[in-house]
Amino acid sequence: MKIFHLVTLILFFSITIVPGIYSHTPIAARTGMVVSSSQLASEAGIEIFRQGGNAVDAAVAVAYALAVTYPQAGNIGGGGFMLIRLSDGTVTAIDYRETAPLKATVDMYLDRKGEIIPDASLRGAKSAGVPGTVAGLSLALSQHGTMDLKTVLQPAINLARNGFSVSLGIIRDFQGLKDDFKKYPATAKIFWKQGIPYQLGDTLRQPDLAYTLEQIAAAGSDAFYRGPISDLIIKAMQRDGGLITRKDLAQYSPVIRQPLISTYRNYTIYTMPPPTSGGIILLGLLKALESDNLTELGHNSSSFIHLFSEISNCYFADRAFFMGDPDFVNVPVAGLISPEYAQNIRLSINTEHHTPGQEIFHGDSVWLAQYGAMLPESDETTHFSVVDRWGNAVSNTYTLNDSYGSYYVIEGAGFLMNNEMDDFSIKTGVPNMYGLVGGKANAIVPRKRMLSSMTPTIITKNGNLFLVLGSPGGSKIITSVCQVILNVIDHKMNIQDAVIAPRIHSQWLPDEVVIEPLGISHDVVKNLSSMGHIIRKGSFMGEVQAIQVDTEHGIVFGAIDLRHGNSAVSSY
Ligand code: DON
Repeated sequence: MKIFHLVTLILFFSITIVPGIYSHTPIAARTGMVVSSSQLASEAGIEIFRQGGNAVDAAVAVAYALAVTYPQAGNIGGGGFMLIRLSDGTVTAIDYRETAPLKATVDMYLDRKGEIIPDASLRGAKSAGVPGTVAGLSLALSQHGTMDLKTVLQPAINLARNGFSVSLGIIRDFQGLKDDFKKYPATAKIFWKQGIPYQLGDTLRQPDLAYTLEQIAAAGSDAFYRGPISDLIIKAMQRDGGLITRKDLAQYSPVIRQPLISTYRNYTIYTMPPPTSGGIILLGLLKALESDNLTELGHNSSSFIHLFSEISNCYFADRAFFMGDPDFVNVPVAGLISPEYAQNIRLSINTEHHTPGQEIFHGDSVWLAQYGAMLPESDETTHFSVVDRWGNAVSNTYTLNDSYGSYYVIEGAGFLMNNEMDDFSIKTGVPNMYGLVGGKANAIVPRKRMLSSMTPTIITKNGNLFLVLGSPGGSKIITSVCQVILNVIDHKMNIQDAVIAPRIHSQWLPDEVVIEPLGISHDVVKNLSSMGHIIRKGSFMGEVQAIQVDTEHGIVFGAIDLRHGNSAVSSY
């Protein structure tokens, strides 16, 4: 009987869902699915499903488990964004981005001559913003979960206390960062075994982190922001020159925001509003591309790459000028995502030749302002996507910023702090670690949230859940997410093909198109160069964690992004 099911299922996939006999096959399930950057974390989500939890319960379990098993980006010392779509169609956007400490100043990373102090915004206690993850996860669970914090934290506590087998990726990172970690004794204590490197098969136990998670399980986020963990944070900050105070922690609050909503062809796109730029740029790109027949242009053809990068450059120029924390600056969101603005951008594109970065200017503030600041009512990072058997979905991206954040672990609490302060524009016009420039809109102000590129996204078709996706990758998050969407919608790829297809990236400045290794043919590169593009072969872009839902047949498909060897799909 089971074999019969398998045969019908395989036939059914190959005929109806997986286009072409050469397609890579996604992982299919009838019920719940989790896709994250760690097999153990994905399984933590499934464990919660087995206990009867919904997608939000599972998402919180995955987030905490990633903080243990994927320390490069999974975190409790960072922040992020969670988009939740319930099966009744309501969509909630939770902003738990870090904030600048109250003692932060606009020029805190500059020397007397106004020059950037090397590494000041990147390493150590002073590069950390006030963490938002614990508060954000508690908010999500209390609003849309069905389980208590203790239950969803249990898999993470077990992983921290009992340990887990370190992955090859972690071993490689620990060895590569040995000298950096040595500068911070609490960090070296965890990630560097008394001078001996971790080997494959070794178990990494994190008793301090287990203690922290147990405190949160017992007393909720108060343990972190007001209780015993806050004491450890303050002690460390005072000793090591960090700016975060008791008041910063007590005042931290996640924000429920109006999700951005737009359409692309017959699909509805829900994504994250500022303080990330990701949602605006994603919706802008899609709208501006909508009038072209991308199927006819051809996947990764020179004409497509030209069009995509030229449009992307325009929105990235807007990012640098207009975008910042909406609680501090007026971001003309509605104008920037309007179809009229997208049409203007599309019409301005020279289809024959690249327009150099210095000739691209941000949009007209007065014209954009006519739409109002807000939307009309209707309205090393890691990503994970979760769908449960009832059709609830969570798309979550959170981060410490750089891989292993500031490299600074809070002594006794066992977790890494973010270095998210570098996402502010620390000096006007000077690029940050992702090559992104900015100005006043993203300048440092106490309690302000730094501008992000994270782009958790959920897509529906005819009112039914269709895609849940997002990615790490700094500025490349936005273009990676966008290309996976185009691969599914315009190129009719199944989700596995869509995720592994080679990607490109262009962000206005630096004035170049980045391509992946093995990604784009020599002929296409030649064509693009003759159109005036500077092409640079970079490393792999993003790690898109995506789930596609076939509502008609009641099947969910999960894809593994092979780029970094972390992506893990679990289903039940
Ligand atoms: O918020 C942002 O846009 C960045 N801090 C994200 C960092 C990131 O994606 C690193 N991952 N590769």
